[in-house]
Amino acid sequence: MRAGSRQPGHADPLVRHLRLSEMGALAALERASWPRSLQASEDKIRHRLGQGHDCIVAEVDNTLTCAACYVLTSQSPFKGTAFPTDFASFSSLPRTEPVMSSYVYSLCVRPEWRGHATVFRVLDRLLEASRDAGARYLVADGRCPSFNGVAEPGPDRVARNPDFRSTIVRWQETGIRPTDEALMADPVLRFYKRYLRCRFLHLAPDFIPEDVASGGFRVIFAVDLGAGHG
Ligand SMILES: CC(C)(COP(=O)(O)OP(=O)(O)OC[C@H]1O[C@@H](n2cnc3c(N)ncnc32)[C@H](O)[C@@H]1OP(=O)(O)O)[C@@H](O)C(=O)NCCC(=O)NCCS
Repeated sequence: MRAGSRQPGHADPLVRHLRLSEMGALAALERASWPRSLQASEDKIRHRLGQGHDCIVAEVDNTLTCAACYVLTSQSPFKGTAFPTDFASFSSLPRTEPVMSSYVYSLCVRPEWRGHATVFRVLDRLLEASRDAGARYLVADGRCPSFNGVAEPGPDRVARNPDFRSTIVRWQETGIRPTDEALMADPVLRFYKRYLRCRFLHLAPDFIPEDVASGGFRVIFAVDLGAGHG
């Protein structure tokens, strides 16, 4: 893990599971961290928790600074046709047993806390919680914002990458998975690959059309929790 630096004037984050009383706090983190069309409301969060979902959060001074939500499922990410075809389904599956996978979504860090080690501490705890619950795979839907890029100034600004865009379009047209190197041209996919040593599995078109930067695409990836990560 890269060395963490501490935000001046703040305590180190406390990394733990979300409490049921914190649905409003998680919704506030979503509002601070995602463009409006990608935010989960408190009602949506309540529904997900009612489905048996869990969430690892980082907290500083009674404020959530990072979160990663997940649901334990008997599903396998390798049966491509059975995999949820859109984000709404992926993020609202009911918890099922026996646990095979931990399906993870909505990883985010409050903008003022980005670039520090918070996200790695949350990911480490998520790996540990998923493994302890008996999951063999951690599975997530990776954004790829350099497909269209984000031109507006702000923390989400990212350059549009025409080569990466061609890689994704070709993948969709041919069904042939690109090399890891080609996918790692995108900063978010590179982040996941480097830290989680994940395997990119399949391209999910129209997974979340509201994610305009990613062209609605998500790259579904898996981490083999039995392979000694971390
Ligand atoms: C993705 C995210 C969780 C990473 O946390 P973080 O604290 O920013 O992590 P870091 O600062 O260590 O950045 C990790 C890498 O992600 C890249 N990255 C993430 N989002 C980026 C963006 N919008 N533009 C450019 N780079 C981005 C960084 O360049 C960095 O790559 P590098 O190490 O090669 O420079 C955080 O940026 C975030 O909350 N983004 C908005 C929500 C989101 O996109 N979540 C991903 C869901 S799939």
